[in-house]
Amino acid sequence: MKLKELESCLQQVDVFEEPKLLLEQYPTSPHIAACMLYTIHNTFDDLEGKLVADLGCGCGVLSIGAAMLDAGLCVGFDIDGDALQIFSRNTEEFEIANIDLVQCDLCSVDADVYAQKFDTVIMNPPFGTKHNQGIDMKFLRAALTMANKSVYSLHKTSTRQHIQKKANEWGVKMEVIAELRYDLPASYKFHKKKSVDIEVDFLQFSKT
Ligand SMILES: C[S@@+](CC[C@H](N)C(=O)[O-])C[C@H]1O[C@@H](n2cnc3c(N)ncnc32)[C@H](O)[C@@H]1O
Repeated sequence: MKLKELESCLQQVDVFEEPKLLLEQYPTSPHIAACMLYTIHNTFDDLEGKLVADLGCGCGVLSIGAAMLDAGLCVGFDIDGDALQIFSRNTEEFEIANIDLVQCDLCSVDADVYAQKFDTVIMNPPFGTKHNQGIDMKFLRAALTMANKSVYSLHKTSTRQHIQKKANEWGVKMEVIAELRYDLPASYKFHKKKSVDIEVDFLQFSKT
């Protein structure tokens, strides 16, 4: 599948109907999702036939794209039942069968239950800017426990040094694959502008 084709399929994925501010529910744009997944697939061969987890899966754009790139099985985890319902509807509309969903709080889940059960973890986690400071690192810790090979994640560029320090402490290799401008739509009342651009790193973590 070509990149443009993937992006145009992902434009059909339904997103949050009433996004929940405290859960940082903003979807990954079809363009960013397609570029991420295409790179994970074509450059690193970490999707085809792999067991993939999508942490904070929301309405499923990353999982659905991974399934389209022939992931073996994709398991989406999210705390929010409403988002998972939309995700489930999306999978029916796309007639995708190799996806499972788990509703749980990734901050309190015992990630050891899933220790090294997945080849690849993909995620666009909450950034920790809504009275939930540190949630991005909790997601990353869980992701690294659950993956046996690679984790691909989006993080605010301003946190890069901190994340690199943690990756060193945890003994995993971190690579900045791309620096993105993330267009955060003004879906919340307190945003005065139509959209806000923030600098985001697309990171790869490899376990040796
Ligand atoms: C930035 S959105 C990303 C959504 C989706 N992955 C995407 O790429 O469009 C973050 C997601 O994390 C979920 N989330 C927030 N806090 C969570 C928690 N403690 N446990 C599990 N999921 C959580 C939200 O419901 C939301 O779907």
